[in-house]
Amino acid sequence: MSLNVSNLTVHHGAICAINQVSLAVPTGKLAAIIGSNGAGKTTLLRTLSGLNHPTHGEISWEGQSILGIKAEMLVRRGISHVSEGKSVVPELSVRENLELGAIWRRNNKESKESIDRVVTIFPRLGERIEQRADTLSGGERQMLAIGRAIMSKPKLLLLDEPSLGLAPLVVEQIFQTIRDLASSMNLTVLLVEQNAMGALKIADLGIVLNLGKVVAVNHAQALIDDPAVRAAYLGY
Ligand SMILES: Nc1ncnc2c1ncn2[C@@H]1O[C@H](COP(=O)(O)OP(=O)(O)O)[C@@H](O)[C@H]1O
Ligand SMILES: [Mg+2]
Repeated sequence: MSLNVSNLTVHHGAICAINQVSLAVPTGKLAAIIGSNGAGKTTLLRTLSGLNHPTHGEISWEGQSILGIKAEMLVRRGISHVSEGKSVVPELSVRENLELGAIWRRNNKESKESIDRVVTIFPRLGERIEQRADTLSGGERQMLAIGRAIMSKPKLLLLDEPSLGLAPLVVEQIFQTIRDLASSMNLTVLLVEQNAMGALKIADLGIVLNLGKVVAVNHAQALIDDPAVRAAYLGY
């Protein structure tokens, strides 16, 4: 079982954002997707979660095609997406934001259990459970966005630049939490990052995108050790 993408092509109007991309991520593995601005990383994640529609290609998850399935239905199939920019509802409390992540379950007991699980993973959210989301720090807001995504008990977690705009120490904590989450929940994770080194350090495998194409796939450590990847993406 795995996530399989083959020959995927996605356009935004005349722009080809994803060009004949094929990749596979085995279940339970954490894949870092790195690449510079405009490489197509966000488009790839949005296509996997049903928000963008491909021109060509195939996507399968757990052996079944998920092409053409609506985003809401994909959540029920275990696919959860945390979009760029710490998407939480500022006026709602931490608890209310988390509840939104499990709203389609309509089951208070399950929702409560899920909140307990999130609070165990992120004790800082537990301490601020009745606080409005707009009073949280950047790092706490990112934890809330991830917490909301795992309320639906996903099997595939798509994370778009979770480290964006966070202080270095907080970035380290977020990366460590993502690693722990993936291992403890046996999650398959696609972690999109401009912070290539941080992402590769916690990843099992790395995928490098450039101008909509996959230009390298390897074990994360092998990419860190690859002189071409180092020069282009790791800055040394
Ligand atoms: N809604 C859109 N309309 C037109 N072009 C877009 C849109 N979204 C993204 N693009 C273009 O698609 C390409 C890939 O963008 P994106 O997937 O956001 O890359 P990344 O996340 O790697 O920075 C870029 O050239 C970008 O300008
Ligand atoms: Mg992006």
